[in-house]
Amino acid sequence: MDIKTGPAVIADVDSIMRIEASGIAHPWTRDSIEALVNDDNKIALKAFTDDGEVIGYVGASYVLDEAEIGNICVLPEYRGQGAGKMLLNDLLETLKTCGIVTVFLEVESDNTNAIALYEKAGFTRYNLRKDYYGEGRDAMLYRRSL
Ligand SMILES: CC(C)(COP(=O)(O)OP(=O)(O)OC[C@H]1O[C@@H](n2cnc3c(N)ncnc32)[C@H](O)[C@@H]1OP(=O)(O)O)[C@@H](O)C(=O)NCCC(=O)NCCS
Repeated sequence: MDIKTGPAVIADVDSIMRIEASGIAHPWTRDSIEALVNDDNKIALKAFTDDGEVIGYVGASYVLDEAEIGNICVLPEYRGQGAGKMLLNDLLETLKTCGIVTVFLEVESDNTNAIALYEKAGFTRYNLRKDYYGEGRDAMLYRRSL
């Protein structure tokens, strides 16, 4: 299956909400996803199939020359086929053209798939917030220069 990435638009918000509900414990609200698509200092990219089905997305916001990845998610049945990697690469390229020099993100310490994705993309861990997501659930802080 051919998967492509590109900018998400307002018509993709329902699909993005479904993707969030499928894989994220605390999905974002419609308002925050609409802001991700609409706002000047935010970027939302989608991954989609040949027939136009939106199967993943990534969202980031930026200030001056720093960006933060808010979320990345791929529908469970499409994982492991490179969509996450494509979304992340496309996002990093897009951020670079916006003049961003450092990208930050945080990820729960037991999320091995996401951690592998980020580390393969060149992110390095610079800190850990103990119990950030609740007792025994640490946040790992990652960053990457562009
Ligand atoms: C994290 C996530 C977006 C990865 O998307 P994906 O499309 O499955 O990822 P890809 O197929 O592009 O894989 C990219 C890399 O991630 C790692 N990876 C992804 N899935 C993996 C798995 N099941 N086992 C081991 N490594 C995995 C690998 O390093 C892989 O690189 P490789 O194929 O060269 O070995 C997806 O698992 C997801 O949506 N998870 C739920 C939401 C989430 O936790 N988001 C992160 C919040 S911080």
